[in-house]
Amino acid sequence: MLRLGVNIDHVATIRNARGTPWPDPLRAARIAEQAGADGITAHLREDRRHISDADIDALMENLTLPLNLEMAATAEMQAIALRHRPHAVCLVPEKREERTTEGGLDVAGNQAMLADYIAPLREAGCRVSLFIGHDPAQIEAAARIGAAVVELHTGAYCDLDTEGRLAERDAELAGLTQGAALADSLGLEVHAGHGLTFDTVAPIAAIPQVRELNIGHFLIAESVFTGLGEAIREMRRCMDRARA
Ligand code: PXP
Repeated sequence: MLRLGVNIDHVATIRNARGTPWPDPLRAARIAEQAGADGITAHLREDRRHISDADIDALMENLTLPLNLEMAATAEMQAIALRHRPHAVCLVPEKREERTTEGGLDVAGNQAMLADYIAPLREAGCRVSLFIGHDPAQIEAAARIGAAVVELHTGAYCDLDTEGRLAERDAELAGLTQGAALADSLGLEVHAGHGLTFDTVAPIAAIPQVRELNIGHFLIAESVFTGLGEAIREMRRCMDRARA
C-alpha cells in the first residue's frame, strides 16, 4: 500500500499573506483525512514563513493522522520535536533565501553530526527520515547513521518534466528508481516527494519500493479550483492506478 502524506504548508502561506486566521491548516488536515490521506506533513521553517509553532501545537493536539514534522537539523528544531514527539521527523536542508527546499541533505558529509543529532529523536520514538537525492553515497550514509527512512527528492525530476527536457527527466527517474532499490536493500523505508503533480506522480508511484509520497504545493494549488478533498482524491486515484 502506497501512503499519501499531504503537506499543508501552503495553506499557512495563504493565511500568512493577509495575517488572518484563515485558511486554517488544521481544517485542511481534517479535510485531508476525510479525503483519504494517510498522514499530514508540515515544515516548521526557521523563519516561520508558513507553518507556525501554534500550528504544530494545534496539529499535535487535534490530529488523529500521524504528523511528519519537516525541519532543519538545528538545536531549536530538535527541542521542538522532542517536546512534541511527532510520529516522524524529516530532516531537510534549509536556506533562508530559498523559495523551497532546493536540494537533498548532505548526509555523507555530515555523518557524525547527523548521527548525534538523530539519536535523541530515535530514543523519543520518532521515525527519523532524511530528505536526500538519489546519490548512492547519500543513501548508504543514511543507512549507516541509523535513519529509519529516506525521502528521495523528486524536485529535479518534476522540473525536467515541466521544462520538456525528457531525456534528462528519464535519466533522473532511472536514478530515483535505482536509489529506491538500493535504500530498500539496506533496510531503509523509502518515501519520495517534492514538486509532484497529477502528471508526474505516476512513474514515482510505480517504483515498487516507495512506500509513501509527500505532496503539498500542487494539491493546495489545485484545491483553488476543485476543493482540497477532490484534489487529494484525484491524486490518490493517480497513485493507485500507477501502482496497479
Ligand atoms: N517532501 C519534503 C521533504 C519537502 O521539503 C517538501 C516541500 O516542503 C515536500 C515533500 C512537498 O513538496 P511539494 O510542496 O512541492 O509537493
